[in-house]
Amino acid sequence: MEVVWGDCVEWLRANREKRIHLTFLDPPFRQGKNYRYFNDNMPEWEYWKWIEEILSLIHDITVKGGAIYFMHREKNTEFVLRALRESGWNFKNLIIWKKKTSAVPYPYFSKQYQIIAFAVKGERARVFNKLRVDAPPPPEYKYTRKNGIFVTDVWDDIRELTSGYFAGEEALRDAKGNRIHTQQTPIALLLRIILASSLPNDTILDPFAGTGTTLVVAKQLKRNAIGIEIDPEYVELIKWRLSNLRAADNIMRYYDYYRFTENLEKIWPVERRFSQKTLEENV
Ligand SMILES: C[S@@+](CC[C@H](N)C(=O)[O-])C[C@H]1O[C@@H](n2cnc3c(N)ncnc32)[C@H](O)[C@@H]1O
Repeated sequence: MEVVWGDCVEWLRANREKRIHLTFLDPPFRQGKNYRYFNDNMPEWEYWKWIEEILSLIHDITVKGGAIYFMHREKNTEFVLRALRESGWNFKNLIIWKKKTSAVPYPYFSKQYQIIAFAVKGERARVFNKLRVDAPPPPEYKYTRKNGIFVTDVWDDIRELTSGYFAGEEALRDAKGNRIHTQQTPIALLLRIILASSLPNDTILDPFAGTGTTLVVAKQLKRNAIGIEIDPEYVELIKWRLSNLRAADNIMRYYDYYRFTENLEKIWPVERRFSQKTLEENV
């Protein structure tokens, strides 16, 4: 695991020899959030120019068929797709991450999802693992699902870490119980992305690492990962989180949910002794 303290653009410009298989891109969304080391109020044109350069630099160091998952607000879908296209990426899916609890108030229909654009370098993805999950059937459904269902482009089974009560155990908190990072991504989201688009020993990049969710999941799935973060406090947090695996960060609690995936043993390496114990702990 490589945790870098710095500006991702500078790092990307200076590390042209790296080879990346998968990137999770979760930048500040330009919505006036109070980041200590980032102006979240950039003019629109400047922000998208900056994003386009980042996408292009990542594209350069990505292997043929390597993937990117770029998360953003739904109102920016048009900009996201254009920036991907202009930087050479080949768009594959627009994933709708439907939030389970919160909706953003709006004068029209309240907003309840975020987008994740999935794209690859070149025509075809070098890896795409078709995941199956044990999702409960809708009420009054006639049949049980003996083999689960394929994961589609609508992800409505992953709980966001919103503020307050709903954030649960997974949200990292300070001594007063306040959330340390309000944009912390759930491990379940990275688990799905990494399982679908990588193999053990691949290298995964997170240029805006935040609390290090990508690295925490990659490490457990036996992938290499590089996380870049500009805020030194978060860098320390990532290092701490990686060396102290909390129960709430343990991905084994999702193993059973994915058990119908055909090649699960290959893409999710599990040490028998460890998994048995962990599974028991999480029943
Ligand atoms: C939306 S958050 C990412 C949250 C992350 N996915 C997680 O699970 O915690 C964006 C992060 O990017 C960091 N950041 C902002 N500008 C940056 C830059 N130029 N280079 C690296 N990190 C940056 C911010 O400090 C913030 O932690």
